[in-house]
Amino acid sequence: MNKERVFSGIQPSGSITIGNYIGALSNFKEFQDDFDCLYCIVDMHSLSNEQKPSELRKNTLDLLALYLAAGLNPEKSTVFIQSHVPAHAELQWVLNSVVSVGHLERMTQYKDKAQKQSGSIPATLLNYPILMAADILLYQAKYVPVGEDQKQHIEITRDIAERFNYRYSDTFVLPEIILSKSGKRIMSLQDPTVKMSKSDENPNGSIRLLDSPDDVRRKLKRAVTDSLGNFDYNDEQLGLKNLIDIYSAFTKETVEDIVNFYKDLGYGRFKSDLGEIIAEEVRDIQVEYNNYISDKAQLEKIYREGAEKASYMAEKTLRKVYKKVGFVAR
Ligand code: TYM
Repeated sequence: MNKERVFSGIQPSGSITIGNYIGALSNFKEFQDDFDCLYCIVDMHSLSNEQKPSELRKNTLDLLALYLAAGLNPEKSTVFIQSHVPAHAELQWVLNSVVSVGHLERMTQYKDKAQKQSGSIPATLLNYPILMAADILLYQAKYVPVGEDQKQHIEITRDIAERFNYRYSDTFVLPEIILSKSGKRIMSLQDPTVKMSKSDENPNGSIRLLDSPDDVRRKLKRAVTDSLGNFDYNDEQLGLKNLIDIYSAFTKETVEDIVNFYKDLGYGRFKSDLGEIIAEEVRDIQVEYNNYISDKAQLEKIYREGAEKASYMAEKTLRKVYKKVGFVAR
């Protein structure tokens, strides 16, 4: 019996954070046995911001090694680099024809990022959601495990699929979002009203999977909480709430148990324990990461085989799409 497909991707546009890990990467391995999974390193999406070529190359291989370190098994899942499968760009072009510029301009992430742009806005920023739709629809993926910030992108993907299906007859599976149970939106350690992000310029706002354990402990100590001195989980104490979410994500303990345990112990002890918990987890990941990153030949073999498997599936959809829109077969 054919298994249902799962697709997800992470941009190599910086060194990934525990937000990416909790909201997405740490959940990927759970699907490997029961679904046909594709996990992509979406390097083409990274061109929506200016990238230093040498850094993009390094971050791409780092991310591949981190995928493997986080338990992705290339024998079970298709692990590949987006730019190695040209069908993503090809389908994206066709899908451009069923999306209006107005719809793209109304996307929250576009509006936020365009506003922050100092110079002119690159067209890749506007067209970004169409490429993401192409990623997912090419593989007829049913489920997409991502953080909450990607919700609108999954909605527009469904919308694009529906429009195409309506115009050209049934072609694409409509994908569904899968949010992680705890930590679908991890916030900055320095400002709990904004999302923790790879591109945060304040190094203390985010913890990266490749941060040293000492840096992890230090950043935790500096994480902003409040002066209420009341150990509780609520929207008046956003800094603490975020740290409790992170604690819960790493330990799988419930919020209630965590609050009960630390109620009388206080913020200091809680932050120091959490620092230890994260430091230990990143240390374990880094041991694995170091093994993978030091063997470039093995990485190359993995991404080559991944691209081959992905291309086979992608080409099948692309051929169908080209035929439906009226392109003459090659
Ligand atoms: P990206 O690279 O920004 O983030 C990768 C994944 O991490 C999640 N995430 C978070 N989760 C919880 N808390 C946070 N603070 C946090 N920050 C990021 C994101 O939701 C995402 O799941 N557009 C996507 C990449 C992409 C993609 C796709 C994803 C391109 N094509 C197809 C799924 C399917 C992005 O920029 O993710």
